[in-house]
Amino acid sequence: MEKIREELLSKFKELYGDEEGIRVFFAPGRVNLIGEHTDYNGGHVFPCALSLGTYAAVRVRKDQNIRFYSMNFPDCGVLETNIYEFRPGEEGENWSSYPMGVIWAFRERGLFLENGFDICYSGNIPSGSGLSSSASIEVLTGYLLRELFHFPLELLDLALLGQDAENRYNGMNCGIMDQFASAMGKKYHAIYLNTEDLSFEYALLDFRDLRLIITNTNKKHKLVGSAYNDRRRECEEALSRLQWRLPIHSLGELDEESFEEYRFLIGDPLLEKRAKHAVYENLRVIDAYIALQQDDLRHFGILMNESHISLRDDYEVSCPELDLLTSEAWKTQGVFGSRMTGGGFGGCTVSLVHKDALPEFKKRLKSQYQKSFGYPCSFYQPEVGGGPAELRIRRKK
Ligand code: GLA
Repeated sequence: MEKIREELLSKFKELYGDEEGIRVFFAPGRVNLIGEHTDYNGGHVFPCALSLGTYAAVRVRKDQNIRFYSMNFPDCGVLETNIYEFRPGEEGENWSSYPMGVIWAFRERGLFLENGFDICYSGNIPSGSGLSSSASIEVLTGYLLRELFHFPLELLDLALLGQDAENRYNGMNCGIMDQFASAMGKKYHAIYLNTEDLSFEYALLDFRDLRLIITNTNKKHKLVGSAYNDRRRECEEALSRLQWRLPIHSLGELDEESFEEYRFLIGDPLLEKRAKHAVYENLRVIDAYIALQQDDLRHFGILMNESHISLRDDYEVSCPELDLLTSEAWKTQGVFGSRMTGGGFGGCTVSLVHKDALPEFKKRLKSQYQKSFGYPCSFYQPEVGGGPAELRIRRKK
């Protein structure tokens, strides 16, 4: 963390001049333990914030101009705009549409910036890995705007503004999970969130001799314009068909019995599979939360595996790379559970592995993956971290 902060400050100085008045902020990425594609179906999710995330060094300007730079996208150079000018869709596929979307979402809520600023971002979440680098940029931007311009906003508001930016500025109809996990993260805890009413509880993660390990397929997933928005529409269609007879507002309200009794109403095998995943995945999250409370990590792991199978077969958002990593993990002694995490179509798996089994786990996945796809997968064991924060800068004497 020290290193990335130092690099950020020296880049800032190189781009924008001296270091007078610079402030540095951080917001985390997330990994979801279980509960995939439930957050736009009124179901539960169970993510935790990571010690990986995005940093920004920023300084308020006297005029209304904004200058953006990201150390992760140096080829884009410094992008210049001002606090009024940009509109959705203007940047095309550029990283800056995430922070700009947040400024736009602030404006849409009547929260106007008084001045512009110079900003330099740097993140250590591999982009396209499904660990929410974009949500971390959004929450970070919202958080630093709040701190710089004294907006009366709660952390929850920052999550909602970030989601709004993602939905309406970037055209990705995501749910609230990623921005919520980034804004509300708590060290050593996962967030058991009911997305129907945004009530939540923190659950202490004590996996004892087990370790949470993330494996990256290094296959970039691209959710904007992908099947993500289609899945969302399919669930809405299945819900509206169930509503012919059932007084429900979301698929997350259904338990196993009522779904099994009324699923015939959907009348389309594909839509039925999508709805089945949403209903059963939500029930699995509730079950997983209880298993964790009862320290039943075996059961927790089984639920992770079932989640993957459902995402693979019923929701169809997995891919051969994710399926290989999970199936090799399941074959390894000492692996309690393994599943894809995030939106899917690439990105990462998350696995719960006994610490003594980690070398074998890595060896096996590494060689099988390389053999099948001709390029390597990578492993991370980040800590479960806290939410956004301002970082102190140690000035050199
Ligand atoms: C992406 C979205 C989230 C959520 C997950 C799938 O990460 O941004 O809102 O829907 O996919 O669980």
